[in-house]
Amino acid sequence: MKVLVVGSGGREHSLVWKIGQSSKVKELFCAPGNAGIAQMAECIDISATDLDDLATFADSNGIDLTVVGPELPLTMGMVDLFEGRGLRIFGPNKKAAEIEGSKVFCKDLLSKYGVPTAHYRAFDNRDEAAAYVESIGVPVVVKADGLAAGKGVIPSMTKEDALKALDMIMVEKAFGDAGNRVIIEEFLIGEEASFIVLTDGETLVPLASSQDHKPIYDGDRGPNTGGMGAYSPAPVVTEGVHEKIMDEIMIPTIKGMASEGRLYRGVLYAGLMIANGQPKVLEFNARFGDPENQPIMMRMRGDIVPLLEACIDGNLRGGLIDWDPRWTVCVVMASKGYPGSYKKNKVIRGLNLVTEMKDVFVFHAGTAGAGKNIVTNGGRVLGVTALGENAHGAIELAYSVVKKIQWDGAYYRSDIGKRALDRVE
Ligand code: AMP
Ligand code: GLY
Repeated sequence: MKVLVVGSGGREHSLVWKIGQSSKVKELFCAPGNAGIAQMAECIDISATDLDDLATFADSNGIDLTVVGPELPLTMGMVDLFEGRGLRIFGPNKKAAEIEGSKVFCKDLLSKYGVPTAHYRAFDNRDEAAAYVESIGVPVVVKADGLAAGKGVIPSMTKEDALKALDMIMVEKAFGDAGNRVIIEEFLIGEEASFIVLTDGETLVPLASSQDHKPIYDGDRGPNTGGMGAYSPAPVVTEGVHEKIMDEIMIPTIKGMASEGRLYRGVLYAGLMIANGQPKVLEFNARFGDPENQPIMMRMRGDIVPLLEACIDGNLRGGLIDWDPRWTVCVVMASKGYPGSYKKNKVIRGLNLVTEMKDVFVFHAGTAGAGKNIVTNGGRVLGVTALGENAHGAIELAYSVVKKIQWDGAYYRSDIGKRALDRVE
């Protein structure tokens, strides 16, 4: 079959890498892709949000399956458009993707179906929101309702910070219409984990647990990014916690979506805070994680394509995926300045030294080809992902590879996986 993956990040590279291993797949395309993806799929120069052009490409090239990476095309209705044109596509439709597209919708759903999450209130008026902050005190978390490229969530330790966040979102409109409404939410304390399932709207198949590292600096300091590294499994998700996540969170949410007339098919990602063995939802995403997908795909055994097709066709059978028991860590190498402004077009050196290495793979994110060179082309540039018998081994291998790769202005956190290390050793 012919498969098209949509997107250009590390998540999409790991999807292309995994889907390309399927014996069912004869031709693989990616739009728009990156320099790493171009080594294993034909990259098509169409942006992930040019929905009509993507559908026309899929139609005229006989694409049998399209897999969507990022959230924006999903919330724009890419799945609805493809299905309307008789094209097979993996992902939730527009109404279902609202679980990520609107935090107010998501929180109201969770509250209606009794899914554990932080206490909250929604506001469409800045002064009323400010009065609420005054009345409940800090810390609180201020969240823009709509998509804000991971920047719309502002944990506020002081009233001044919370009010500043409200002004930025609702008055200055830093995220445009995404800031027409806000959530003000209880500040939760605990350890975070990402828990991701495949679903056909009724049956759920969990992927391996993982943990992201959102802040830019070591020790979880500084502003949040899309994610500076991830590992799988996350030791905080014990067997008991896993069961609670499925029974109290994932199953009721999927059932709730169906009851609301928003059958959810595709991949559902829960960002969780876990304290004393009790998980609570921070947010839902309508897609695979980035960078979580890199370690997860490295650990997944067997063919992913039949699972994706079963989600589309509504015949996903229960049962478990076979996982490589080894521990996997992904260290993101970024452009200095990210998540703020940064320079592009820096030549990346050392990639050729690591292509043949065992148990390690370098997934590309913001990279582009420039003649014989590969150059930086984004904030997050590479995801160096390594397997190890234990956390220690995986971390050591990943960082030994990171050190071989260089460009002018490369930045990475030096403590990815440390929390897991503290837990298991
Ligand atoms: P989100 O995009 O909603 O997952 O939020 C981004 C990050 O903000 C999360 O990964 C958490 O680190 C933090 N965060 C979000 N909501 C809360 C909360 N209620 N309490 C504490 N931290 C939070
Ligand atoms: N790594 C966070 C996300 O994918 O949203």
